[in-house]
Amino acid sequence: MSNEWLDTIVVGRRDATARIVVLDLVSPDGTELPEFAAGAHVDVLVDSTAGLVRQYSLCGPPQDRTRYRLAVLAEVASRGGSLGMHRLREGDRLRISRPRNRFGISDRARRHLLVAGGIGVTPLLAMAHTLESRGAEYELHYCARSREDSAFLDELEHNPRVRFHFDDGPDDQRLSIAADIGPPESETAIYVCGPGGFMDFVISSARDAGWPTEVIHKERFAPAESAAAHTADGSFTVRLAKSGGEYEVKEGESVLDVLLAGGVDAPYSCQQGICGECIVRVLAGEPDHRDDILTDRERADGMFTTCSSRARSPILELDL
Ligand code: FES
Repeated sequence: MSNEWLDTIVVGRRDATARIVVLDLVSPDGTELPEFAAGAHVDVLVDSTAGLVRQYSLCGPPQDRTRYRLAVLAEVASRGGSLGMHRLREGDRLRISRPRNRFGISDRARRHLLVAGGIGVTPLLAMAHTLESRGAEYELHYCARSREDSAFLDELEHNPRVRFHFDDGPDDQRLSIAADIGPPESETAIYVCGPGGFMDFVISSARDAGWPTEVIHKERFAPAESAAAHTADGSFTVRLAKSGGEYEVKEGESVLDVLLAGGVDAPYSCQQGICGECIVRVLAGEPDHRDDILTDRERADGMFTTCSSRARSPILELDL
């Protein structure tokens, strides 16, 4: 993994709900942390012995570089990541990556519609901080199971730009794409983050309402069902343009796995097609895209995720 780890110390820890813990991190020597833009996430080395790395969005105000704030949901089917984060206490040390961002605020939009499902509120909260500080026009729609399951109620409840939608509330306060998002408007962008099913619903409903794909920005915490449902099929050869090396990618292997096994210093992080860290350019051949982050424009420009995508042609040449 091409990470330069930063050491941090947990200086704040509070249970925001029964299942969400909020952690504040600072640098050990009190210096400012690296700059980030709203929507960014960091890799967290949850367990260095097991090499367990997870991605969490930064949800504090980007203008405050004295600390990073993370909010972590205890996953029911956690393989150690979220539960390891919940075990952290004030004074504990935590290694994180520098912030990365593929979910920034669109500079083409004048109006911003933020749609959060559950813990997906985290990157959108940072966006709301930034948009608020810019005096920009925005709305944050925060969908949660119940009031008790909603983090950051104290800071959001009195913001007139925030609308809560609780699953256990009356029907007339549930998220309605027709009423809350409405028909497409020029210079308006939609940002969606949350569980896969929630995101699929919001994105497909917005598209059905006529919103163009390119103004719907999304950040997933797990691969989309459609991406995850792909099965690896057939082998192909990856040719590296810079080194001239050739590697056979067999059924069941990823391009990234094969490159790393071959000693190639290929970039990567999540290995699930959701962070964008492994993107390289295709120079020849026909890619079979299976990621959930590249836009149609980026794919047309030759971008390719080595951790999740494959080839339809016998040879795929990469700019590596
Ligand atoms: S490593 Fe994250 S998208 Fe490939």
